Amino acid sequence: MRFNRDVFFRQATLRICSSLKIDNALKSAYDYLNEFFPIDELFLDILDADLGAIRRIAHIRGGKVLVPELIVPLPEKLKNWLTGKDVPFIMDPADPHAQAMTPLVKLVGVSDLVVPLKIEGHPIGFLVLRAQGLGRYRAEQTEILSVISEPFAIALANALAHEAVLKYSDLLLDDNRFLQKELFPQKGDEIIGGNSGLRNVMETIRQVAGLSNTVLLLGETGTGKELIANAIHFSSRRKDGPFIKVNCGAIPESLIDSELFGHEKGAFTGATVEKRGRFERANGGTIFLDEVGELSSHAQVRLLRVLQNREIERVGGTRAIPVDIRVIAATHRNLENMVAENRFREDLWFRLNVFPIMVPPLRQRKEDIPALTRYFVELKSRELGIAIPPAIAPGALERLTQFDWPGNVRELENLTERELIRHKGGQLFFDGLLSPQRKVRESHRREERDSAPSQTLDEMIASYISKVLKATNGKIHGPGGAATVLGIKPTTLRARMDRLGIAYGRKKC
Ligand SMILES: Nc1ncnc2c1ncn2[C@@H]1O[C@H](COP(=O)(O)OP(=O)(O)OP(=O)(O)O)[C@@H](O)[C@H]1O
Ligand SMILES: [Mg+2]
Repeated sequence: MRFNRDVFFRQATLRICSSLKIDNALKSAYDYLNEFFPIDELFLDILDADLGAIRRIAHIRGGKVLVPELIVPLPEKLKNWLTGKDVPFIMDPADPHAQAMTPLVKLVGVSDLVVPLKIEGHPIGFLVLRAQGLGRYRAEQTEILSVISEPFAIALANALAHEAVLKYSDLLLDDNRFLQKELFPQKGDEIIGGNSGLRNVMETIRQVAGLSNTVLLLGETGTGKELIANAIHFSSRRKDGPFIKVNCGAIPESLIDSELFGHEKGAFTGATVEKRGRFERANGGTIFLDEVGELSSHAQVRLLRVLQNREIERVGGTRAIPVDIRVIAATHRNLENMVAENRFREDLWFRLNVFPIMVPPLRQRKEDIPALTRYFVELKSRELGIAIPPAIAPGALERLTQFDWPGNVRELENLTERELIRHKGGQLFFDGLLSPQRKVRESHRREERDSAPSQTLDEMIASYISKVLKATNGKIHGPGGAATVLGIKPTTLRARMDRLGIAYGRKKC
């Protein structure tokens, strides 16, 4: 058969680029090169700058793929000699450099034909053909091999990049699992009142634990809906999968599609890379749609489609991507009323409402208040770095039990934290029950009585938020902050402030 340089180039290139798994690609290349050269071993070595060494990443011997094990530390002199080579060469055992390598690599009794691999002039590694016995390669064969050094270099670089991506994706997955485990036991694992005030709720969670049905959590603000959502996910078969939370009220309208469904590269200005949305990220696990009542009508339509078809389409994309997810939604709003007022789609409401769980307000399970208070004293002391949690004064728990708790468990949690911060030693009396939030509420009630309704809902919300911000001196986060007073999350409050055009700032609101 007459040797054709172009055919050789094409066939060798096709083979080395046939797989991202470098073992498979090298084996395929071996099967072809073997027809033209004597080869007992074929291997790919990389110059690993991190290790300051040559590392073998693929190795064929006698036509069999071996696990590459070799790492050879490279003295500076040898490194300079090797990286200075530009074209394929036959290793001369008499060369002092080759001899310097002999203690590291066995070069005795073999012939090596070495192809330096470079990308943009930068050395990245070598392809080595080895045959038993001396003088097995001829000078013209080095010339033939020079045509394939470039495709082999590209294939090697791609394989390395692929290896790095796999490594990082494994690391991320691992990080994600680790963080999930780290984050959730702190809060959420412990549900106080599971055997008393929340017994029915816990019983229901056990019923749905093994299923993948949609769950709708209803209940006033601060009753523990998010905690229950955690419990449902972590007691389900999906517990090792992702648990992705979405606060529907906190994502600006213009971003909601790309946040939930992702986008393709170039879908809009600024979409410089492809992005997976939260639904895709939740694949194999659970998505928690918190404050689902805040979704705009446009987003409601998109959500309905996901629930019906169990597939999503990225913004700017054309293909449907199937998603295996369990949906848990939560709201403190009365969705039924919202449906009646045409503010929530009825079809979506039916889809979400297949398994509603009502989390009762704290005033209907007052028996849990003492245990919750003790739990928060312990938890918050730990968080605040108080070594020995103070005792609760006699009579304090009775007082707490008589209170109505409009902000529910979150209000009790915040009150306990405030009490610990103010605490100057001795026992906890919980005499700060007339908190800033009650003062604001009461003054608001007075004003409500005195004024006739003349505002839109948004204007009223804006004026109320401004008033609370004034009372908290512009503080949003933390104990005594506006978010706490309003019983919503700081992220939600910020989103509302942005939407309603309310200015930030500590002085004037
Ligand atoms: N039964 C409980 N045991 C221990 N902690 C609880 C319990 N219920 C609620 N909490 C705590 O109270 C706080 C408020 O709970 P959560 O955020 O789950 O309420 P929510 O119903 O989602 O409120 P919102 O409607 O405002 O979002 C959280 O810090 C939560 O950990
Ligand atoms: Mg919540």
